[in-house]
Amino acid sequence: MSHLPVDQRGAWRALAAHAEGMGRRHLRELFAEHQGRHATFTRHAAGLTLDLSKQRWTGETLELLLDLARDAGVPEAIRGLLVGERVNRSEDRPALHTALRLPAEARLEVDGEDLVPSVHATLARMERMVECFHAGQWRGATGKPIRDVVNLGVGGSDLGPLMVTHALADYRPEGIHRLDVHFASTMDGSQLADYLARLNPETTLFVLSSKSFTTIDTLSNARTARDWLKARLLGGARQEGVDEALLMRQHFIGVSASPEKMGEWGIADEHQLAFWEWVGGRYSLWGAIGLPIALVVGMDHFRALLAGAHAMDRHFREAALADNLPVLLALAGIWNVNFLDIRAHSILPYDGRLEYFAAYLEQLEMESNGKSVTHDGAPVGYSTCPVLWGQLGPNAQHAFYQLLHQGTQAVECDFIAPKVRYDDVADPATRDHLMDQHRLTLANCFAQSRALMLGDAAVADDGPRPGYRHYRGNQPSSTLLLDRLTPQTLGALIALYEHKVFVQATIWDINPFDQWGVELGKTLAGETRRILQHQAGPEDMDDSTRGLIEAVWAAEPE
Ligand code: F6P
Repeated sequence: MSHLPVDQRGAWRALAAHAEGMGRRHLRELFAEHQGRHATFTRHAAGLTLDLSKQRWTGETLELLLDLARDAGVPEAIRGLLVGERVNRSEDRPALHTALRLPAEARLEVDGEDLVPSVHATLARMERMVECFHAGQWRGATGKPIRDVVNLGVGGSDLGPLMVTHALADYRPEGIHRLDVHFASTMDGSQLADYLARLNPETTLFVLSSKSFTTIDTLSNARTARDWLKARLLGGARQEGVDEALLMRQHFIGVSASPEKMGEWGIADEHQLAFWEWVGGRYSLWGAIGLPIALVVGMDHFRALLAGAHAMDRHFREAALADNLPVLLALAGIWNVNFLDIRAHSILPYDGRLEYFAAYLEQLEMESNGKSVTHDGAPVGYSTCPVLWGQLGPNAQHAFYQLLHQGTQAVECDFIAPKVRYDDVADPATRDHLMDQHRLTLANCFAQSRALMLGDAAVADDGPRPGYRHYRGNQPSSTLLLDRLTPQTLGALIALYEHKVFVQATIWDINPFDQWGVELGKTLAGETRRILQHQAGPEDMDDSTRGLIEAVWAAEPE
């Protein structure tokens, strides 16, 4: 592989030259010229169908992009990721989220140790915990079965479990002890305060989810939760036999890569689920951080989620680049960002169960690839991660789609929907109505991507139209259809995006597994907090920050 920066090498330059002509082409023309674009640009794997025909590209573009992928070493990088090479170079460790979904009979030796047995030992511990809750045998300090679990975590220790538990809520096992799982992440305590106001401390357990166990957001919520339990269960009318050790043991589970810190905080040894430094926070839902998921859907469905992700891992490793879903999705993004100058990307699921999918991808993509130096520390000379945001597509149609249709920004869109839904609803009348609502939703999904592609040409020519009714079209999109939304296909969908991010990072020569940029804000927040608490003076602050601090002081009670 050449050591020249990627944008100075032949493959990139060939694409740049090709883009000069392609940049002026309209999707309308591309479809008119090429019958059968859907078949040419559609691929299937692991219960997913990816249609890339509405990207502003041709077969030649794709060939050139595949050359770029080969030139950037994507095949070698995929292998290196999956066998546990130290791909996270700034932190000198592998990124082995894929090991968390290996089947029990697999082997993965890293530094002379097979990781699979310890991965499955953790799954077995999770399973014992989940069974205990589902049997109503996990009891609070006063002897009543736990019926509310609150996950305290933020970022990767919140978004993955939140997104998946919401998406798979239909998969709750039947006949188990009732258990409701909640999520509190915000450092201001507003979500937690709401739960504390309505939950019963005797039957509530907190899962402290924090890879580092140093995140102030989570530790602040955890301290409030601990003091709430103590005040309610150890205070005034305390119950016979309830002491602090029992309370801590029965009302807290810790999930972290730091057993020492969990122990220091007071998590009982037997209720600690430890995981490994080689699992990145935003890639961690597949193991112990996924405990809330397993509590909601049961361990069988949790294992099905892992199996779906593993199916995508195998596809990623084995499929030719030209048929490889994560590679193709990544190349479409590279083409848009680096050659068509489209640096906004919208995620638009057409299924209410995927309500938190865009929020999840915002972290996955932007915390991973929001980088501007190469692995060698040199500034990149090209754009990397686009601004990515999204919302449920049907609702976004009534909110920000106006900009997609008639604004001045070019935006790449991902439309995501299951092919079939509701056919298992027992009552026939309700089933028919709901199936029809699903078809209505799909009709909107397909109509929107079509309108964004064709613009004015999507409607019958009824003569000249005023400018305000002009739709320029030519907004590129990908459409992802899931056979159904199941634990397996959801696992495959998430793994697809994880690998897409990795392929793009490989081509951009950046590290998707660190996040040094978030540290500056944490340091400055610590300093600012000391000033707000009157433990330090505001003299060194800039004028704006000092003014804001003084405004707060003036408003606080004496
Ligand atoms: O601040 C960013 C971050 O480190 C994310 O990468 C991570 O998912 C989140 O904070 C939470 O971190 P932890 O799990 O260590 O509490």
